[in-house]
Amino acid sequence: MSGGQKRRFRFVALVVSLALLALSGCGSQRAVDHEQWGSEEKIVITFSHVVAENTPKGLAARRFANLVREKSKGRMLVEVFPNGQLAGDGEEIQALQDGRVHLIAPSTGKLAALFPAWQVFDLPYAFPDQEAVVTTMEGPIGQKLFRTLQRGGLRGLVMWDNGWKQMTSSRRPLITPEDFVGQRFRVQPSRVLVEQFKALGATAVAIPFDQTFRALETRQVDGQENTPSNIYWKKFHEVQWYMTVSNHGYLGYVVLTNNLYWENLPKDVQLILTEALAETTAWVRENAGRLNERDLDHIRMGRIEVHFQTEQERKAWKAAFSPVYDYFAREVDAERIQAIRELERKQEP
Ligand code: LMR
Repeated sequence: MSGGQKRRFRFVALVVSLALLALSGCGSQRAVDHEQWGSEEKIVITFSHVVAENTPKGLAARRFANLVREKSKGRMLVEVFPNGQLAGDGEEIQALQDGRVHLIAPSTGKLAALFPAWQVFDLPYAFPDQEAVVTTMEGPIGQKLFRTLQRGGLRGLVMWDNGWKQMTSSRRPLITPEDFVGQRFRVQPSRVLVEQFKALGATAVAIPFDQTFRALETRQVDGQENTPSNIYWKKFHEVQWYMTVSNHGYLGYVVLTNNLYWENLPKDVQLILTEALAETTAWVRENAGRLNERDLDHIRMGRIEVHFQTEQERKAWKAAFSPVYDYFAREVDAERIQAIRELERKQEP
């Protein structure tokens, strides 16, 4: 090959590589082709999340990465970035859309701005138990919700559990709805959660997860709601005096990818990811409750005063939350609220 031919060849190779990278849609570490995956090639997939490694989501992400490595015999590598190291809370969806990360697992509350119907999972006392959550996720409601994600160029792969949220405050014990009056609570950016505190006469302030400890410590807010695992591993209990184990709300995640990125992955790669996700989902369903119980025990060893809500107290909170359902039916989705109420009725003794 002459010098001129070599230069032309390099130029064409560069243009072809750039075109393939653009087609992959996501700055993936390799250009992909639907059919082939060369035996020497390695695929690196970045998975970003905002919580600590020892929480249900942190452990699930790590487990998923190990399964992918085993199933692909080391040819696929999932790099997990916990604690918002790669994309902070509130930036994750944009980072996925821009192709800066390949997988994220935001809570349903974080989807609220773009896909308000997902707030159905934020409704207080909507799900009597985990089985009811799974029925909703896997039934027509869940299927419809997953389809809404396509509008944002996203693809929902599975849902992972964290568990049930508990209330904490530094001001006073939270026993009756009246105890909330005048207090300020940190919430995820979900309108339903804002309405939930409004219904109790409190004020809600949307604050990113990674800024919540500071907001509690400096008394920017009096309290917050979260699962024991998130409370414990972010040390929220160390800057709060009172906790009520109310199990009033569910916290779960949607594992999301960029649709274009996914469609450009070879079929065998998609299959490995799908299998590893299914196995991880089964694991997290089985273990998230146990992990939260373990972390509740850890919390109870600290200075915080922990109250377990009685049935009567639950009824009073539930009645006070009624305007939240009206808000959801009016502003978000009347059809889904019907289905949720039906589910609730079926479960009631
Ligand atoms: C929160 O912001 O409280 C949670 O969504 C964090 C998480 O991802 O569990």
